[in-house]
Amino acid sequence: MKIETERLLLREMTQEDYPSLAAILQDEQTMYAYETPLSPAETQAWLDRNLARYKADGFGLWAVILKDTGTMIGQAGLTWQSIGGSSQVLEVGYLFNRSYWGKGYAIEAARACKEYAFSTLNSSEVYSIIRDCNVASMNVAIRSGMLARGSFIKHYRGLDIQHLVFSVKREHDRA
Ligand SMILES: CC(C)(COP(=O)(O)OP(=O)(O)OC[C@H]1O[C@@H](n2cnc3c(N)ncnc32)[C@H](O)[C@@H]1OP(=O)(O)O)[C@@H](O)C(=O)NCCC(=O)NCCS
Repeated sequence: MKIETERLLLREMTQEDYPSLAAILQDEQTMYAYETPLSPAETQAWLDRNLARYKADGFGLWAVILKDTGTMIGQAGLTWQSIGGSSQVLEVGYLFNRSYWGKGYAIEAARACKEYAFSTLNSSEVYSIIRDCNVASMNVAIRSGMLARGSFIKHYRGLDIQHLVFSVKREHDRA
């Protein structure tokens, strides 16, 4: 699997990406919406979970590579998530290295993931599930064509945390 955009390449992560992944997931400021940065063991489990997703689902969170330099600057991709009920929805997710924030990379990657969901996976609707305080993430969702649809309480690390549900339907996609 490879997705190419103007400035970015999205591809499956491998074990060699661990240091770039750790730079994102072990950074306190980056992980503010996740309560706490991940430990090395949790970072490895995160990577393993995505390697398993590639096999089981054919997709997951992918490495985002800056084409100019070959550097892994973030992760973006598609995962199955629950929004409170029993059914699963396809989520566009994104987490970027703080050094590369504010350059439009997350929006560029999110749009490409949405397009992949619609065109390649033939999905009719894609979602982003965002903690109520995570304005930067909401802005990315909105700029990739999504609207807020509702909210629910997500149980995470023993806490009940309010999350907003954003989505865009294929037939309404104007992005
Ligand atoms: C959420 C996250 C990925 C957003 O990243 P980001 O760097 O702010 O996103 P982008 O750069 O794509 O877009 C943000 C800004 O870049 C601007 N931008 C767009 N295209 C641009 C370009 N070509 N050049 C420069 N800036 C550009 C946008 O206008 C936007 O500006 P705004 O802040 O005024 O809205 C980042 O904050 C992050 O990694 N957070 C931690 C992990 C996380 O919480 N993930 C989401 C979980 S739900």
